[in-house]
Amino acid sequence: MIKSLSNYWDLALQTIEQLRPGTSSLTSSAEWLAALRPTSIELYQSYRKDDIQVDYQRPEVQDAYLLRYFFPYCELSYQTFGLLEGANRNVCLNAERIVLFGGGPGPEIVGLLEWKATQPPQSTALVQFIIVDKAAESWEWWHRDLEKFLNTTRCDFRVEIIGSNECCSPQEAYNFGTPPLRTLFVAQNLLNEFSELDGKNWIGEILNVLNQSEDCGLLVVGATNYPTSSSLYRSLEHDATSRHLRTSRFEVRGKIGSNGVPAIIREHFHNHDQCRPLSNLNDRLFEGFFVEGPTKVDRRRPPCN
Ligand SMILES: C[S@@+](CC[C@H](N)C(=O)[O-])C[C@H]1O[C@@H](n2cnc3c(N)ncnc32)[C@H](O)[C@@H]1O
Repeated sequence: MIKSLSNYWDLALQTIEQLRPGTSSLTSSAEWLAALRPTSIELYQSYRKDDIQVDYQRPEVQDAYLLRYFFPYCELSYQTFGLLEGANRNVCLNAERIVLFGGGPGPEIVGLLEWKATQPPQSTALVQFIIVDKAAESWEWWHRDLEKFLNTTRCDFRVEIIGSNECCSPQEAYNFGTPPLRTLFVAQNLLNEFSELDGKNWIGEILNVLNQSEDCGLLVVGATNYPTSSSLYRSLEHDATSRHLRTSRFEVRGKIGSNGVPAIIREHFHNHDQCRPLSNLNDRLFEGFFVEGPTKVDRRRPPCN
């Protein structure tokens, strides 16, 4: 579990308070939180449909997402990174650039950095996050505060968050610095938005990048009850295997609930029938997939028989 989650809560509450006039003393502003509740329910219901129509640029959607989903998803990323082993783990630990496909407010950033902090010191000087998301620019207010917070509370490396509404291609994101940095691609919690995203093409492009690079990886993780998740995992596994990429699947079990969530937020966003905490859904909540560089196939030697 992320130990310092309450620092991020303070940051989120302060940042929202500064940005939205009339929400001062947010922690005691039950009326304002109650007004956001229908949007939170709307989000919850739309994630259960095939055809998702969420406009993440709307301020009330951003506030509701930040308060209802961001923190459990920081925890999801954190737990996911903790599950990875061997080479997968090293790719994540040593990545200098992390491209968050559909990253939105970027809970993956908190999860990754908090997990890194539990590991032996690394030699990375800069960790750069590129958020490729159709609503990235409207999250600028949050990305800037998060970046500032991370750079004042950590002294081991510098963090840079770059948001891009333009869906730059995976190859462009990989070549963004010269020489290309060790890159980790992450696609978390957007599997049911993939039909709209044309995500399968995007994933195909990432696999092309991984084909050329030995120290890059792709982490895909999403809720098991998303309608399109299993077909996406199947096609990802098939495409990656046919390109001789190394793949592994894993499941995230257990509670990713409202731990560390302030009581007033729990009251308004978690304690009602249509918006249950994630931990109540089932035991096996999320599944994930990791793809890394090519398996070493020695084409010169015929197989022994
Ligand atoms: C459920 S949110 C997930 C955000 C984050 N990854 C997380 O775990 O909390 C899905 C994200 O996908 C983005 N998205 C949806 N369609 C997109 C598209 N066509 N191109 C880029 N991003 C898209 C949305 O803007 C949203 O931020």
